[in-house]
Amino acid sequence: MKKIIYTTFILLLALLIPTACVSDKKIEHKEPEMKLEDIVDFILEIEEDREIRILQLTDTQIIDAGQCRTEDRLNSTAKQRWATNTIESNCFNYIRDTIEMTNPDLILITGDIIYGEFDDTGESLLKLTRFMDSFKIPWAPIFGNHENESTKGVDWQCEVLENAEYSFFKRGNVTGNSNYTIGIVQNDDLKRIIYMMDSNGCSNTNDPSVKKTVGFAEDQLAWFEETAEKAEQFAGDKVKSFVGYHIPTIEFGQAAVAAGYQESPTQTKSYVIGKHVEAKNGDFGKKSEPFAGMHEVPGLLDMFKEHGVDGVFVGHCHQISTSVLYEGIRWTFGLKTGTYDSHDTKYVGGTYIEVKTDNSFTVEHKHVDIYTIEPDTYQHIYMD
Ligand SMILES: [Fe+2]
Repeated sequence: MKKIIYTTFILLLALLIPTACVSDKKIEHKEPEMKLEDIVDFILEIEEDREIRILQLTDTQIIDAGQCRTEDRLNSTAKQRWATNTIESNCFNYIRDTIEMTNPDLILITGDIIYGEFDDTGESLLKLTRFMDSFKIPWAPIFGNHENESTKGVDWQCEVLENAEYSFFKRGNVTGNSNYTIGIVQNDDLKRIIYMMDSNGCSNTNDPSVKKTVGFAEDQLAWFEETAEKAEQFAGDKVKSFVGYHIPTIEFGQAAVAAGYQESPTQTKSYVIGKHVEAKNGDFGKKSEPFAGMHEVPGLLDMFKEHGVDGVFVGHCHQISTSVLYEGIRWTFGLKTGTYDSHDTKYVGGTYIEVKTDNSFTVEHKHVDIYTIEPDTYQHIYMD
């Protein structure tokens, strides 16, 4: 298990000798026979009594046009814009900028990290992994619906992510290829759990181990519930939690309806919250495409509410960045990171989540000005 402890001292020291330190410290808990490391997959220990900084990146969706399987897969503009040597200008610059803006303790990447059909060599995933490790900050990636398309294979991809020095990634033992948990400990208390889950849905693969339909399988929900119950037993109370997955569930649409932003979950309506529709409960963000994916998982909302979830973070919809409070949970589409694939030129960057000392949290998008000059037709040259 990778276990990382952060203190001011260590952070200062890290400037001289960058390192991750293993903590042997015992964590106080209500059930002495239980160990936190037997409940969660990774532990992030924040020693100081301060806010916890989390950066969500999403849908970097790296395209290497040089790896097109067929000549006509991309048009000439797309081939030029997403050529092999464009990873800095289309992706890495945005990651670097948002990390500098937020100085995160932890980075979540909520899927579609690479566009698998353009990464049959695996080179884009390797480049991204090396780049993320260079920050020496724990980063927690999950699969979206596009990684699995690579003929390099899911086994190889999981191995790369698991072996990265600073990654918090585990394939997990249930359906999907990225189901794992991170426990955040501060002042010897289990402050939060982050559940990272694979929402599946990659149809463009022959791998029989990949669930091609969108949505969680029963065993994933059982795993969530079992982990939450163990954590509650350990802590003697509910544990506040975040959940990260790639494809939005129906609650994202229901949240928009309940707030009065649109009339039905599937309504095609574009708006900026606070501009075209009146913002409620501190909601914000832009919706300029229909909610996509939005699968229904029976019992999901009740399960989240029962187990202390107060924030859910997804991606997948490159031109939606809404953050809406619904049923006591903040449902947030992360701001798309970078300019690969479809995007809104004024809405790219990352999403900053700040957990306060009282365990409440705020969410804010960190916009980055685009690094490339875009043709007017960029949104139409390649759409998923
Ligand atoms: Fe996606």
